Amino acid sequence: MTRENTHTVAATAQEDWDARAAAFDDEPDHGLRDPEVRAAWADRLRAWLPEHPADVLDLGCGTGSLSLLAVGQGHRVTGVDRSPAMAERARTKLAGHTATILCGDAAAPPVGEERFDAVLVRHVLWALPDPAAALRHWRTLLRPGGRFVLVEGVWGTVSPVGIPSGRLVALLEPLVRQVRVEQLSGHSRLWGKEVDDERYAVVATV
Ligand SMILES: C[S@@+](CC[C@H](N)C(=O)[O-])C[C@H]1O[C@@H](n2cnc3c(N)ncnc32)[C@H](O)[C@@H]1O
Repeated sequence: MTRENTHTVAATAQEDWDARAAAFDDEPDHGLRDPEVRAAWADRLRAWLPEHPADVLDLGCGTGSLSLLAVGQGHRVTGVDRSPAMAERARTKLAGHTATILCGDAAAPPVGEERFDAVLVRHVLWALPDPAAALRHWRTLLRPGGRFVLVEGVWGTVSPVGIPSGRLVALLEPLVRQVRVEQLSGHSRLWGKEVDDERYAVVATV
């Protein structure tokens, strides 16, 4: 097993997302309650998502903070989370907006024949048992010209968890026409604090 795979499997086994739901939004980059942090993510999302109103699939949407930004920018959002507690919070946050929140596995989202202009995933791919298989499946959910917007990282130094950008790009390259990586570690407004671990976004067009 490679070092990256070790991190991914360990993370999946440890997390109880239902238990974390109530306090999840207390982290600045989760709840986006601080107007500066929220504006920083809104700016990035505007640059990463299509310019025109689009169908966005937010996988592992958590409490729906990025989904809410996306609908605020005119997009139609379908959010999927396996944790009922997270999904319920997302439903509450998105009530009254053009959004649907489903409870299900991000690796095989319960979206039937629906296709999307963007698959948006923040801090989720690293926790899936088989990221390569998930990416291949998500590729089939994208319309021609659609894009992946993947925000991932490697957190911590003693027992790091996550997926390094080089590995993610290597997994994506066979599936897409173009891949762009943005390093996000140096942008403290996104995190509400200084960070020195690896944080990045990948925007990949099919
Ligand atoms: C770190 S949180 C990120 C939430 C959200 N994407 C955000 O950036 O605020 C990870 C989320 O992924 C969800 N998740 C983990 N594994 C999943 C899976 N296999 N299918 C669907 N959701 C999953 C968890 O329930 C949790 O809400």
